[in-house]
Amino acid sequence: VLPLLSAHEELAARVLPPDVHAWAAGGAGAQATLDEAQRAWAAVRLRPRVLRDVSCVDTSLVLLGRRLATPVLVGPTALHGLVHPGAEPATARGARAAGSLHVVSTRSSTPLEQVGADPWWLQVYVLRDRSRTLDLVQRAAAAGAGALVLTGDTPYVGAKRGAAPPGVAQPEELRQDPSVGLEAIAWLARHSGLPVLVKGVLRGDDARACVDAGAAGVVVSNHGGRQLDRALSTARALPEVAAAVPPGVPVLVDGGLRSGLDVLCALALGATAVLLGRPVLWALSFAGARGVEACLRAVTEDLSAAMALAGAADLSQVSADLVAGDAR
Ligand SMILES: Cc1cc2nc3c(=O)[nH]c(=O)nc-3n(C[C@H](O)[C@H](O)[C@H](O)COP(=O)(O)O)c2cc1C
Repeated sequence: VLPLLSAHEELAARVLPPDVHAWAAGGAGAQATLDEAQRAWAAVRLRPRVLRDVSCVDTSLVLLGRRLATPVLVGPTALHGLVHPGAEPATARGARAAGSLHVVSTRSSTPLEQVGADPWWLQVYVLRDRSRTLDLVQRAAAAGAGALVLTGDTPYVGAKRGAAPPGVAQPEELRQDPSVGLEAIAWLARHSGLPVLVKGVLRGDDARACVDAGAAGVVVSNHGGRQLDRALSTARALPEVAAAVPPGVPVLVDGGLRSGLDVLCALALGATAVLLGRPVLWALSFAGARGVEACLRAVTEDLSAAMALAGAADLSQVSADLVAGDAR
């Protein structure tokens, strides 16, 4: 863990109300999946190249037609207003300042129209009242969202330590619809006109089925260890998923990524970009948009340093041969 990020976590624990901190930090069940997440990245071993010109390291990429300065993006987490009064607009502003983008949660504290001109995507839960979901995705398209991220791993909300977000109970019609299937991908794309990625994929066959059903990409995720406990780590799931999707289809990954070195490992294992969940919430909690920007910049600078030492001058050179042994 970058010293900066661990300091962020400690600061957040001091400024946040204890119930909010526990809600954000916690995982499902006995937290086996949560506990394993960071260790799984740390277990990856690299095969650095020597004598490559790494005088300039470029971390930029084009993702779904948009150029970003960094492959380190802000993942969807609910209710930023519980963490900081600037809420989602502050997170999106911080992300833009770092050349990144914010995937805004369906459970945003702020109306989508206020997220602003910053690059953002909308994470979608298909709700039991599907007209609400249609309304949300059409509003997102009108308000400038660049893509939808359909979360597929949450037919029901997993039982967690730290339980529900403090003071927030969901009425029946606003709960997730557990009957959602692959057809939702084309349905969302048709009604929004936006590319749809599917988040929560941990298997190659699922990734392939999502792409065949019209997904523009997948996000390898176990929801930060907050849904099915004992789900496998994303570091272990990623290579199979990356191998299963056609070339050129973006594969994102999240869960326990805490340093640029972790990001380098994820990219070498087949990810196009990564998402950060909790680290962004911690940074937002005590420093708003500037905190989010600093968090993303720190991880990106660490990535750049790791790329240089691994002999990769740009992201196209971060290939599977950089990873040793079984991890691939
Ligand atoms: C407090 C909190 C709220 C979350 N809310 C959502 C959400 O609304 N939608 C969603 O798809 N994922 C949600 N997630 C999961 C994150 O998008 C992501 O998968 C996970 O946090 C990544 O792991 P990390 O926190 O270790 O970086 C949430 C995670 C946390 C910690």
